[in-house]
Amino acid sequence: MILDTRALRNTLGQFATGVCILTTDDDEHGAIGMTVNSFSAVSLDPALVLWSIQNTSDCFSAFTTCDRYGISVLAQSQEALSNRYARSLDHKVDPGDCVVDNFGVPLIKGALATFSCRLTALHQGGDHHIIVGEVAAFANVEGDPLVFFAGGYKRLD
Ligand SMILES: Cc1cc2nc3c(=O)[nH]c(=O)nc-3n(C[C@H](O)[C@H](O)[C@H](O)COP(=O)(O)O)c2cc1C
Repeated sequence: MILDTRALRNTLGQFATGVCILTTDDDEHGAIGMTVNSFSAVSLDPALVLWSIQNTSDCFSAFTTCDRYGISVLAQSQEALSNRYARSLDHKVDPGDCVVDNFGVPLIKGALATFSCRLTALHQGGDHHIIVGEVAAFANVEGDPLVFFAGGYKRLD
């Protein structure tokens, strides 16, 4: 059956999500970052999370071959950062935007929550790959999240 991809995208967009920036320390480019809303919790014990990356992404090889990567859940005030790291072919992290944790993983400053992960599994999923990571460290602060819904940013209230 052939589905209408645009209609499917719009329908999937009715599922409100947070927004994350995925980061890793790439051998060639240093810290790179990419905006993602496919993040999801998987398991508490062991602590596993997942996200998915488009097979054609410029960041594909970096995120599918790295040992470790970071997930930074954006605060409502970080919409500009979300747009910044959603730009095509422009993923080098500005040094002022990140801190590097004890595992050598870059994480976005001012995020509501961070997860420092070790890549544990890769699964093909159509035009994306699903990346599963084990959480090695995490932190969070109080605040309002950046919300993505129906193709745009929304406020919780
Ligand atoms: C709110 C939002 C969520 C996104 N979520 C994902 C995602 O889950 N997976 C993905 O591969 N790209 C996602 N993208 C697209 C990437 O951020 C980025 O635009 C894309 O990777 C650019 O192409 P490039 O990687 O070839 O440079 C998202 C973009 C936005 C604005």
